[in-house]
Amino acid sequence: MTNFVEEYTDIGKKSGMILKELNIINFKNIAEANLAFTGGFNCFVGNNGVGKTNILDAIYHLSMCKSYFNLPDLQNIRHQEPFFVIQGKYLRKEEEVAIYCGIKRGQKKIFKKNQKAYEKLSEHIGLLPLVMISPEDVSLIDGGSEERRRLIDGIISQCNRNYLHRLIRYNKALVQRNSLLKSAAGKRLDPEMLGIWDEQLAESGELIRQERITFLKEFREVFQRYYELLSLGREQVQLDYRPSVKEGDLLAALQAAMERDRLLTYTTVGIHRDDLSLNLEGYPVKKIGSQGQKKTFLIALKLAQYDWLYRMNGLKPLLLLDDIFDKLDTDRVRQIVSIVGGEMFGQVFLTDTNRGHIDDILHTQGGDYKLFAVDHGEIL
Ligand SMILES: Nc1ncnc2c1ncn2[C@@H]1O[C@H](COP(=O)(O)OP(=O)(O)OP(=O)(O)O)[C@@H](O)[C@H]1O
Ligand SMILES: [Mg+2]
Repeated sequence: MTNFVEEYTDIGKKSGMILKELNIINFKNIAEANLAFTGGFNCFVGNNGVGKTNILDAIYHLSMCKSYFNLPDLQNIRHQEPFFVIQGKYLRKEEEVAIYCGIKRGQKKIFKKNQKAYEKLSEHIGLLPLVMISPEDVSLIDGGSEERRRLIDGIISQCNRNYLHRLIRYNKALVQRNSLLKSAAGKRLDPEMLGIWDEQLAESGELIRQERITFLKEFREVFQRYYELLSLGREQVQLDYRPSVKEGDLLAALQAAMERDRLLTYTTVGIHRDDLSLNLEGYPVKKIGSQGQKKTFLIALKLAQYDWLYRMNGLKPLLLLDDIFDKLDTDRVRQIVSIVGGEMFGQVFLTDTNRGHIDDILHTQGGDYKLFAVDHGEIL
């Protein structure tokens, strides 16, 4: 097998991005933390429930303006406290970038880049690319289609702001159409109003669908190559797009679904119902995959995401690995370590409860590293 990582050494020499410092106040169980990182591996070790994942989530906030775990902002404020603040200092293409994220109960979230507040958070997405791999990702396989759409929409949005704006527009029109359907229950439905939303949904939806199809055509292959690497070529996987409207235009499909949508009071066709099918050896991985195979599937998906973002933006994303070695055999752990320790990857943040795993990794990859011991919200 050719060394996939070696092919990318050229890209690897391009300028990168690192998070140099992180300051946290009252974020989840962390009262205060002031951390300085290395450009290589930063490892957080400690027992269950001490706050390792919370540190990664704080870093995630600075790139994506929200929690990885879809929690409402207020739930991330430390219990009994009035606010949280997360600040990060980055070096991005040789320029310093300071990010501030602050949330106070009863007030709007404040998000700043170099002391200047953003008007729209969507302007920030993509500036500091990041990929997180977490045990919660299993919902991508076991959960509903929304999880899988969020993955592809997230990847495309981080490299294509236009796509993100389309998506926002589509979702607004969808909310409007659904509320029109609800308010018309048992009453006359204004066909003109419905027509306006149908057109907006069809126009934005068509572009989104095309973008997703084009993206997946290439992404599928990158994913397959990572899976092959991780499983040492032992298993075959497939990734396919399953649109809810298979052929014909979206406008006709929306119009045809009008009566049914009226009865159900929500929109039953459109790109918000599209899905991905995830297969292992031709069968749904959800049904037949072992725990380790599912985990490998998810890691391959995320490494493919990393690879994609890197090639699109020319910046190495931050890689956050939360507890990823659990359930994997030694061969697979070794493969992951050799991939993420390679030229293609940049700054890595990882958590584990087992010091032995971490020592193995640092020993194998031999580059820069820093170890942090986490205990009850304190980082040493
Ligand atoms: N808003 C909050 N205020 C205070 N504590 C919180 C808040 N939200 C979560 N916590 C606490 O944070 C802790 C969980 O931290 P975290 O998920 O980072 O643990 P971990 O070190 O990753 O553990 P594991 O090894 O089990 O994954 C829990 O004890 C939880 O009660
Ligand atoms: Mg954790």
